[in-house]
Amino acid sequence: MKKRILSGMRPTGRLHLGHLVGALSNWAKLQDKYDCFFMVADWHALMSEYEDAKSMNEYAIDNVADWIACGIDPKKSVIFVQSDVKEHLELDMIFSCITPLGWLERCPTYKEQLKEIKNKDLSTYAFLGYPVLQAADILVYKADAVPVGQDQLPHLELTREIARRFNHLYSNVFPEPEAILTKVPKLLGTDGRKMSKSYDNTINLSDSSSMIKEKTQKMFTDPKRIRLTDPGHPDICNVFSYYEVFNPQKKDEVQDWCINAKLGCTECKQRLADALIETLAPIQKKRVDILKNKSIIKKILSDGAKKAGELAFETLDSAKKAVFKA
Ligand code: TRP
Ligand code: SF4
Repeated sequence: MKKRILSGMRPTGRLHLGHLVGALSNWAKLQDKYDCFFMVADWHALMSEYEDAKSMNEYAIDNVADWIACGIDPKKSVIFVQSDVKEHLELDMIFSCITPLGWLERCPTYKEQLKEIKNKDLSTYAFLGYPVLQAADILVYKADAVPVGQDQLPHLELTREIARRFNHLYSNVFPEPEAILTKVPKLLGTDGRKMSKSYDNTINLSDSSSMIKEKTQKMFTDPKRIRLTDPGHPDICNVFSYYEVFNPQKKDEVQDWCINAKLGCTECKQRLADALIETLAPIQKKRVDILKNKSIIKKILSDGAKKAGELAFETLDSAKKAVFKA
């Protein structure tokens, strides 16, 4: 039997290159080795976007179109929306009862977000419980493993602790899921900070060629390379790290242009834009095809919710029995 994995993404905006290299290409590869569940985490999105939740539905469809365009195959994997499977919230309730407040208050992601995100009020009841719902997402499918980024490790650790506590208090229902931490290339935003919608420094999977050209032209380069004749330092240039990820065959050539001042940064960025456009072309073609008929996506999601729901129902049933029946 194949091992099972679950992962999810919050539908808070268009997906960008960071999602592609950080998650989606990895998810696509895992599909043959594992039974995969991929979830649109709309409840988790609501925890931060509750003042402007209207666009979430649209982002959900849009994101799933990108997932499929990037190779997530609904024939192989279960693709669904979190809020379509009500068992997540029921299990969240059980876990909420057994999770000490201190575990949540100490969670580094919680402290960080409260401190960093100033344009939203995140000091809500639900937001503190973010990792509890995430534990329910994972454990309601008894997932063996969870592909996540480094930043999500504290949540996975909490998931394991909650599973352990449940099993100890009642009976042994839940596995302790492992993280699948694949080495992903570090891809920064166009301004050199972490790539994020809130920094307005992303290149989106759906960006047009002209947008990609415009955004790459604005990228920061080696600040010491002012004139074409100044030799550059590719190792400290963000543009060069993009080449490493998206056009590694060209790496040596770019190094030569740069170190030996053979080609200017403008030209170097133009050629990077061409490489990005070429990489995204097949994804965008598929995306446009899929979005022509949104009812297909809706059908994929309702089929997915049905499949996910069957398994979730079984787990919740055994969890409730373990809690309430002697
Ligand atoms: N917290 C995850 C993120 O922001 C999204 C998420 C919700 C998730 N539930 C999950 C990821 C369960 C993995 C497993 O990226
Ligand atoms: Fe960066 Fe390319 Fe300019 Fe070198 S030539 S500094 S790699 S943009």
